[in-house]
Amino acid sequence: MRRFVLGICGASGGAYALRALRALTADAAVEVHLVVSAEGDKVLAEETGISVADFIESLPPQQRARIARHRHDDFFAPISSGSFRTEGMLVLPCSLSTLACIANGTGGDLLRRAADVHLKERRRLVIVPREMPLSTIHLRNMLALSEAGAVVSPASPGFYGKPTTVDDLVDFVAGRSLEALGFTSRLSPEWTGE
Ligand SMILES: Cc1cc2nc3c(=O)[nH]c(=O)nc-3n(C[C@H](O)[C@H](O)[C@H](O)COP(=O)(O)O)c2cc1C
Repeated sequence: MRRFVLGICGASGGAYALRALRALTADAAVEVHLVVSAEGDKVLAEETGISVADFIESLPPQQRARIARHRHDDFFAPISSGSFRTEGMLVLPCSLSTLACIANGTGGDLLRRAADVHLKERRRLVIVPREMPLSTIHLRNMLALSEAGAVVSPASPGFYGKPTTVDDLVDFVAGRSLEALGFTSRLSPEWTGE
């Protein structure tokens, strides 16, 4: 099995995470360890009109079975330890507050701990921040993360695929985020030159 961690923060853009979770679990060879911050649960439900729990419930049983959800305050969860092998972690969307904690190694909740683990184990960590504009502090924290080996991949959809719906834009960001994680979903269009 390919094992990935998906972290969802209380930044705008929970729809990206739901799209990524659906795409990852559509692959029978994938196991997703999901951790949603306390604010992530609230902001996602406010924006999308569905809670993470209800979204998981709406998935077909075989897809649901590929998700192991951990509480944000459960430091006894396997993803708290570097000994638990994973292929990588995606934080989508990432708040600038969680980004600051990861960049400075302060920990805080399970999501931040798991991200810290991915950095120390030199595993793939993809951070998808959502904020505008960015302060100098935000930019410094992103540079620190990049220097520590993380991929900082802002939630900024491209328009070369001629999107016509909000869904297209969501697919673009979810798809490019998954590509950065090393998972090919075909959610985002491939530029072929024409
Ligand atoms: C509706 C709403 C939208 C928000 N959007 C963002 C955002 O896009 N980026 C961000 O960094 N914080 C955003 N915040 C603030 C975060 O939720 C807040 O900083 C929180 O402490 C993040 O906690 P977490 O990183 O543990 O999820 C938003 C808050 C609300 C209520």
